[in-house]
Amino acid sequence: MTATPRGRFITLEGGEGAGKSTQIACLRDWLEARGRSVLATREPGGSVGGEMVRRLLVEGPADRWDGTTEALLHFAARRDHLRATVWPALKRGTWVVSDRFADSTRAYQGYGHGLDLAMLDRLYEIAVGDFRPDLTLILDLPVEVGLARAGRRRGSETRYESLPRAFHDRVRAGFQEIARREPARCAVVDSDRETERVARDIARIVAERLGA
Ligand code: TMP
Repeated sequence: MTATPRGRFITLEGGEGAGKSTQIACLRDWLEARGRSVLATREPGGSVGGEMVRRLLVEGPADRWDGTTEALLHFAARRDHLRATVWPALKRGTWVVSDRFADSTRAYQGYGHGLDLAMLDRLYEIAVGDFRPDLTLILDLPVEVGLARAGRRRGSETRYESLPRAFHDRVRAGFQEIARREPARCAVVDSDRETERVARDIARIVAERLGA
């Protein structure tokens, strides 16, 4: 099941409105300028099946799923995304940059909704195996700034934003805890700054850690 990656797998994580899509576009340009072949993708989604599951997850009322069902759906979408998109690309030597991956499940369903973290580790093992991102960039900013940014641009995908402020505080603290536990894989980037400054920091970290 586990791929032997020749490309590199970089994930961007963070709460609502952290600026991940803008930064992924910048990182992609930067990597391509260095001669890398790059695939930008996202979770939930990133494959035909993953995008179908995404709709179930991001639309509708906040209480549509209980926490465990939601975690199962995220891991189902993730496995499809890995098999259909990520692993084949890495095998071709492409660098894959994903807007969210399993740390989002830990932060949102684990720290946010209070699901047992050991249970999430078991689901990870089943759906993903021993595959891990080569680098995870956690874009950090105050919850109110992120929610205000996210609220300005949303269409129907409001299910997570409609959760209470305390939920988003736990998500932010969860991401910070993930970075503390796995400093070799993760780097926290202050994203409450101008786009260009954040992009420069990200490029520096990718160069230092992955030799891009
Ligand atoms: P997005 O807004 O970054 O596209 O992500 C969609 C929503 O899905 C976002 O509110 C975070 C949430 N999410 C989880 O709760 N768990 C997960 O595992 C993933 C990948 C996303």
